[in-house]
Amino acid sequence: MKIAILGMGAVGRGVLELVDGKDLGLTVTGLADSKSGLMDKDGIHIEEVLAAKQERGYCGDKSISATDIVEQADYDVLIEVTPTDAKTGEPATGFIRKAIARGNHVVTSNKGPIALHYAALQSLARKHRVSIRYEATVGGAIPVMHTLQHGLAGNRVLAIFGILNGTCNFILTRMAAEGLTYDQALLEAREMGYAEADPTYDVKGIDAAIKLVILSNTIWKRNVKLDDVEITGIDMLTTDALRLAEEQHCTIRLIAEAVPDRGVLRVAPRVLPKNHPLVVEGSLNAITIETDMAGEITLIGKGAGSRETASAIIGDVLFIRETHARGH
Ligand code: HSE
Repeated sequence: MKIAILGMGAVGRGVLELVDGKDLGLTVTGLADSKSGLMDKDGIHIEEVLAAKQERGYCGDKSISATDIVEQADYDVLIEVTPTDAKTGEPATGFIRKAIARGNHVVTSNKGPIALHYAALQSLARKHRVSIRYEATVGGAIPVMHTLQHGLAGNRVLAIFGILNGTCNFILTRMAAEGLTYDQALLEAREMGYAEADPTYDVKGIDAAIKLVILSNTIWKRNVKLDDVEITGIDMLTTDALRLAEEQHCTIRLIAEAVPDRGVLRVAPRVLPKNHPLVVEGSLNAITIETDMAGEITLIGKGAGSRETASAIIGDVLFIRETHARGH
């Protein structure tokens, strides 16, 4: 299967490394970063491109844009992994629409287009008989969308509670365990590649809220917006607050919760007992899904990181290959 990739940040590089290092039957025929692009219908030499990016800061030919790749490259699936713009969803939404209209499947880790235009993009994809999948938008490596859409099919989801931002969880863990200041811990999270291109999305709770919107719209088809979420971040939290929680054998975590029957749609720091199932460490995420048939299910896994997020992307691409080969 031929893939074109837009974006060469942590996620794009992770996808390239996995495609190069594992025998997945995937060929990269188009690639673009913010400054350049390249295409080759026989397959791009991944190691050379990664080395070029590392050396000179861009991957290909500066006269080739991401739009050129979407419109002209020879691919089956577009992998859209450019940075999230939560206000406009652009330019990613435009790329996705163009790829779908051309009859190509889309896999994305980009939260903007899915949070803002989920229903419209799904209906465009149905019209063109292609798939759009977005596992990597929520929970990094955790297959939460797959669990909701397939594993828990037929269940009524009553509520979701979760830690949906790896950067905040990493910062809170480091502050509590090592007594680091908020700024030191944030710097580390950025160095590890967990944070968004604009890390205020992480620490102000916006990233977790966007993911809550995506989950809510996937589960309940309610078309909620970011403005509907009550948001408090962790940027004002002090080491003292964490120490006080520790003294009570508790800790603080940024919790996202959606309980439609009670009108709850919220992201806020919470004091939790240390043995609570949602108290996970470092860049882990944890998501509890309350259902009518299956009861309560908690998924835990790496919520951010290059290879981990790339795992979710690859899972979506291979799922598309499998389902479309079966003629679905
Ligand atoms: N910045 C995000 C996080 C990346 O820290 O969770 C994964 O969506």
